[in-house]
Amino acid sequence: MTPTINRLLVVGLGLIGGSLAKAARERGLCREVIGSSRNPDTLSKALASGVVDRVIIDIGDVAGDLGEGDVVLVGVPTLTVPDIMHQLQPLLADSVTVTDVASVKGSVVTAVRRAYGKMPAQFVPGHPIAGSEKSGVDAANSGLFDDHRVILTPLQETGKEHLQRVRGLWQGAGAVISEMTVAEHDEVLAATSHLPHILAYTLVDTLAGMRENREIFRYAAGGFRDFTRIAASDPMMWHDIVMANDQALLAVLETFTDHVDQLKYAIQNKDSEYLLGVFTRAREARNHFAKMLENKAYLEPMTQTIDYRVSPGNSVTGSIRVPGDKSISHRSIMLGSLAEGVTTVTGFLEGEDSLATLQAFRDMGVVIEGPQSGRVVIHGVGMTGLKAPACPLYLGNSGTSMRLLAGLLAGQTFDVELTGDESLSQRPMERVAGPLRQMGAVIEAQQGGRPPLRIRGGQALKAIDYCLPMASAQVKSSVLLAGLYANGTTRTTEPAPTRDHTERMLTGFGYPVRREGAVAELDGGGKLYATNIDVPADISSATFFMVAAAIAPGSDVTLTHVGVNPTRIGVINILQMMGADLELTNHREVGGEPVADIRVRYAPLHGIDIPEDQVPLAIDEFPALFVAAACAEGKTRLTGAEELRVKESDRIKAMADGLTCLGIQAIPTPDGIDIQGGTLRAGEVDSLGDHRIAMSFAIASLRAQGNILIRNCNNVATSFPGFVALANTVGLKIVEEIR
Ligand code: S3P
Repeated sequence: MTPTINRLLVVGLGLIGGSLAKAARERGLCREVIGSSRNPDTLSKALASGVVDRVIIDIGDVAGDLGEGDVVLVGVPTLTVPDIMHQLQPLLADSVTVTDVASVKGSVVTAVRRAYGKMPAQFVPGHPIAGSEKSGVDAANSGLFDDHRVILTPLQETGKEHLQRVRGLWQGAGAVISEMTVAEHDEVLAATSHLPHILAYTLVDTLAGMRENREIFRYAAGGFRDFTRIAASDPMMWHDIVMANDQALLAVLETFTDHVDQLKYAIQNKDSEYLLGVFTRAREARNHFAKMLENKAYLEPMTQTIDYRVSPGNSVTGSIRVPGDKSISHRSIMLGSLAEGVTTVTGFLEGEDSLATLQAFRDMGVVIEGPQSGRVVIHGVGMTGLKAPACPLYLGNSGTSMRLLAGLLAGQTFDVELTGDESLSQRPMERVAGPLRQMGAVIEAQQGGRPPLRIRGGQALKAIDYCLPMASAQVKSSVLLAGLYANGTTRTTEPAPTRDHTERMLTGFGYPVRREGAVAELDGGGKLYATNIDVPADISSATFFMVAAAIAPGSDVTLTHVGVNPTRIGVINILQMMGADLELTNHREVGGEPVADIRVRYAPLHGIDIPEDQVPLAIDEFPALFVAAACAEGKTRLTGAEELRVKESDRIKAMADGLTCLGIQAIPTPDGIDIQGGTLRAGEVDSLGDHRIAMSFAIASLRAQGNILIRNCNNVATSFPGFVALANTVGLKIVEEIR
């Protein structure tokens, strides 16, 4: 429980002290508010405008009477705090809580230590981030702190009860509390508040000093007004802040002036690449910041959960293009970033997974424009041009990002940490860390080879000849990408064909890859050259509509511009074996990848034993294929697919549980599942946060007897943004429910 406050003595009735006094009075946060100021005029104004209950001139008049439950708020300018603390120290009982509002915490803590000869438990350093260019008691506003942040920097010695009391006071005034250390506070504020203020003052002063240019203020436009608004703040206050936080401010000022010098140099040399780089990165950072300020999620887990309520539909009809291929989108960013020159990507998947890869490369200094309607422009930095990111690279739900990046980053000169969401943090990474270590990489994983991965830079990698123990395009790609940086010829041999987008795209970027049967090899030390990439529609996303049309009588759907790389068409083969009416037309090749339109019309399906050689070719399509099996006549058996257990969820279990709930006999086995076709009932299923499970049950509704409620569908956005809207245009009936 928050301890209650008896009397509040506010020393210094400026904007902050006055506003808190007023809020405390109006909101009944304490029994009495006493104001003190050296300025009699301030005191009479405070009394007249109802900011305080009573006023005193000398704090000695009341300080000695205060006791348990009373709070003294020191609201004077930063450099005056030591003086006030010296006055208070001999007068105050230990039980009185003391706090301050100064913008610099290091100097205040030093002053308190000096006054007391130690750090007293009763002192709670605080700083409300609620300034305004207005100042003085006239501007006191009881709503000033509503939804604003107050940073408290308690010390080891700070008493719990005192801290709680100060928290309660600020919360009562409407503020949101953060806690950090004194040093952290002063560094953060130097960068985000003190530096912008001195820049604004300096800019206005510089322009005002250019006598011949006095007139220019007349023409100053909105940009000038926005940028210099804070130069109207109280000069004395800012003088004090700069003096008190000199060390942290000098450090950030130095970094800033270095950047300005580089910019000056770039302007002198007409280095448009550099300028565009700074402006693009800054705009992205500003947008990110604006979202944070609005409290919106940005590649972070949403706080709300989306469920799908799907009602039975009849048939699906129409011609649609699903979003771009996820695997190719990831690779386009990776190779485009490492290339020499500018790569333009069209058809890029604007899903959270590929955006996580895009963000990771931005974090490593690559200038990437877009995405805008699927168009991305990557200003490649060359094989050795990536920069150390300032913090761990957050890869969300994306296993492909983490595994491919592990290979690519193993050969860089800098250290990096790769992190992900709850699901990704459970996924096995040893399958890439193992071979990469054999190449000389230094990679630390968590227990059981789980993320986060810490990759130590500066290692000389050597080529290996690696026989993959499992059919995995991610492992193959990770080793090949590390091979770009290795000394010698890196060779991979896979137990069964897996998607070969990495090999194809490397070739497209002018990097020779030799391939024969199960073997792919490349020599390290080469270069990539920018190219343009047209990403075809993702066959994995098209699958949901192929299965939808295959199970719903009367359906006729055409999926246009779908990537039909032979290493991805297991779903087409399997559906045809089950009796589906599928036709591929308009075959063409786009940027080294085969593409076609796929027309699917309803035809009754029958169960089959799925040939094991099709498993890697349809690895992401099984959840949807299980729905086809549930609607087929007879039994479908899948074996040799244990990999499904370590995808975004255990897909065998997730689908078996869900189908069973819907009345289908679905029996999981260690490496597959047996599904007996039957009638789908209404029911409730859980996608376990797996995008493909969610979309598979959505299409199952076409043959269900009643509504299906699908829980936890947020992650559909990782691979298929706009799924619900597109699905509803062809005849599904999905309603999103937010909880
Ligand atoms: C992918 C490879 C596959 C696939 C994943 C994307 C890729 O994973 O399931 O969705 O882009 O290389 P595995 O390599 O683990 O089979």
